Amino acid sequence: MSTSETASLPPSYPHLLTRERLPDGVTLFTLEARPATLSVGDQETRVLTYNGTLPGPLLLLEEGERVRIVLRNALPDATNLHLHGLPIPPAVDDPHRVVAPGAETSYEFTVPEGSAGTYWYHPHLHGSVTRQLFEGLSGPLLVRGPLERSGPLAAAWEHVLVLSDLSIDNGRVADHTEMDWGRGKEGSLLLVNGQVRPTLTVRTGLVRLRLINASTARYHQLALPGRALHVIGQDGAFLEAPVAMESLLLVPGERADVLVTAEEAGTLQLLSLPYARTPAGPSPREPVALLTLQVEGAPTRADLPTTLRPVERLDERSAVATRTLTFTGAMNPIRFMVNGRTYEHHRTDLTVKADTLEVWELRNPSPMDHPFHLHVFPFQVLTRDGVPAPFPAWRDVINLRAGETVRIAVPFREHTGDVMLHCHIVEHEDRGMMANVRVT
Ligand code: C2O
Ligand code: CU
Repeated sequence: MSTSETASLPPSYPHLLTRERLPDGVTLFTLEARPATLSVGDQETRVLTYNGTLPGPLLLLEEGERVRIVLRNALPDATNLHLHGLPIPPAVDDPHRVVAPGAETSYEFTVPEGSAGTYWYHPHLHGSVTRQLFEGLSGPLLVRGPLERSGPLAAAWEHVLVLSDLSIDNGRVADHTEMDWGRGKEGSLLLVNGQVRPTLTVRTGLVRLRLINASTARYHQLALPGRALHVIGQDGAFLEAPVAMESLLLVPGERADVLVTAEEAGTLQLLSLPYARTPAGPSPREPVALLTLQVEGAPTRADLPTTLRPVERLDERSAVATRTLTFTGAMNPIRFMVNGRTYEHHRTDLTVKADTLEVWELRNPSPMDHPFHLHVFPFQVLTRDGVPAPFPAWRDVINLRAGETVRIAVPFREHTGDVMLHCHIVEHEDRGMMANVRVT
């Protein structure tokens, strides 16, 4: 027998995934990947969903709890699940797993202490990631911890915002052209939680936005004119203290946790400003309004927290190895490489010793940006083109600008097994810009 319950005070998001407490103390969640016809930007469109919604329901986890996520595949094609950014054993979050049509599998793990942050989930079957993601398969995943239970963050209005895009062609999601695999396809409809330019109502006070870029390739340079974005977290981790930014680049796969002070009633627009991810290419579009925040209520003070959580300083002098990874592309056919090689399922590209610190130099000599992502092991940016990172932060995605070299420090702690690194413009990943890393 099991009892259904919902977590207290869930953040605002259209669909919360039901949690079921099993007698053995495990919390069970069930996701079913299946096609559905939904209204997208006023057009009935055949999309891919988890549990019938676009994007998928919110998976809300607590630090320390034991969870089992069952994935049922009701698609006509194979799929699987990647819990993007969660530092859990590679054997659990294994993108080599193949879930055939009609089959199901489960992912069971203990949510790590200290992992409170913003994550997301999506399929990760090499060769079909792009189309499954572009057609709608993704959803948000939050881990909540002590900072959400008391203090200023507990009082903030919290909204989860999944940014994605798609194009519609005759009631279906438009196909990729060969050029789209090279550039990375950007859909003509910009969606926030599956809707075109929604209005969200918030109360005056502190507003917390959990932003997730679930696009296959679209970059967002985000701004809220008239307000600073107070970044408190990037990817799956808190910063030491809020960092005020006028605008914030959010690349595919990346997350940002942002506080906004809304002391009086009124409206605010979240904009996506132009950003050239192929600097020599055509100039980017005009700013686009992604959503309207409708602030209601009596004037109030909105106090920002002064500190969040300490961030360990990694000392690169204790690194055991320095490696170079170079990210390039080629034409005819369009393909992408890491250190000159396109991805192969069975090849181990890098072997790393467990419990060591490595420094990686990520080089992007290509004429376009590539967002680098590493599974399971969060890293810290040391320098970008020689310039030290302005503040310490744990990341799982870092944009490599065209021509840029980024040095990162990666502690391979706690887990052994096989993980992947890849470009999170998933067209590039499907066309080869991925490598297998074995941690032993
Ligand atoms: Cu979000 Cu390897 O992926
Ligand atoms: Cu790329």
